Amino acid sequence: MKIENKEYRTIWFDEQSQTVKIIDQTKLPHKFIIKDLKTVKDAINAIKTMEVRGAPLIGGTAAYGIVLAIIEKNNDNFIQESSKLLIQSRPTAINLKWSVDRMMKKILGTKNKEVLKVALDEAKKICNEDENFCKSIGLNGLKIIENIYNKKNDTVNILTHCNAGWLATINWGTATSPIYHAHKKGIPVHVWVDETRPRNQGANLTSFELNEEEVPNTIIADNTGGILMQRGEVDICIVGSDRTLSTGDVCNKIGTYLKALAAHDNDVPFYVALPSSTLDWNINNFKDIPIEERNSDELSQIEGIDEDGKIKKVTIYSKKSKALNLAFDVTPAKYITGLITEKGICEASSSALHKMFK
Ligand code: MRU
Repeated sequence: MKIENKEYRTIWFDEQSQTVKIIDQTKLPHKFIIKDLKTVKDAINAIKTMEVRGAPLIGGTAAYGIVLAIIEKNNDNFIQESSKLLIQSRPTAINLKWSVDRMMKKILGTKNKEVLKVALDEAKKICNEDENFCKSIGLNGLKIIENIYNKKNDTVNILTHCNAGWLATINWGTATSPIYHAHKKGIPVHVWVDETRPRNQGANLTSFELNEEEVPNTIIADNTGGILMQRGEVDICIVGSDRTLSTGDVCNKIGTYLKALAAHDNDVPFYVALPSSTLDWNINNFKDIPIEERNSDELSQIEGIDEDGKIKKVTIYSKKSKALNLAFDVTPAKYITGLITEKGICEASSSALHKMFK
């Protein structure tokens, strides 16, 4: 998708320098910086500090992390150890482990001389696949937006939470892909963008990427969604997923659950858009999903740009105050109208997911 009218993907491999290029998302929307990842440590650090984030992009970065480990030291023990550290870099998005496991399986038993080529091809394949899946999610989700538009004959108001946009994936996004497809088709859409405290990813990333694609959007505080739904100003909610269980329960950015409750209370359709790489077939009870707890500094401090164009962090409450910073929550399947996947739209239920993917 576009930044300043130029097409980008969120991650790519530069053959000449043998490095991985990423867009540093911690600097957006104020600064657009392309950063080089030269070592597996750089890849781990980029995931931990959220220079790259969003379940599918974390998966893509981890795949390239294995490539960087091989470039650094083509040695079985080093690659094994690197794969473990990559998996541990963030706990909740299942794409991370899915991607590293897939890479390790692919290179297992490959001759030393060929391992780099095999790994690089697989990392590219994982990223290309994600791009194609997200495109298909968009085409499938487009039908839902189109139906609403055909009934309403007026702008379709869509609420999304956090950033499940192209910046969270390789391209297109999950929740935003149907929106981009509708916009490209000429259907009038407007997006309510939850700011998503504490990191303001809705405001900093979703609104930014929608602006670059000229999709009308309005930032709202996280708690505004409920009243907008009561007022009939939200036609549909579309969110992303970091891990979807075979039960249909969806783990996503903190606050998704409260949006789903508000949507349920107001008969607003609540859809989750996800590629199959986000499915976890092993955990059956949502209470077993590891929920990331991040540093409470993310709550007590806020970052922005000052009048001189300098990015600054300020502390917003007393140092004596204690804070709890949980990054994800789980929305039970009963509150989800449907799952928009690359294969089509299905009910958030075990039988529907098995029928579609197993
Ligand atoms: O903490 P983040 O920024 O990695 O979390 C992002 C989200 O929760 C997204 O909604 C999710 O990864 C879906 S990505 C298309």
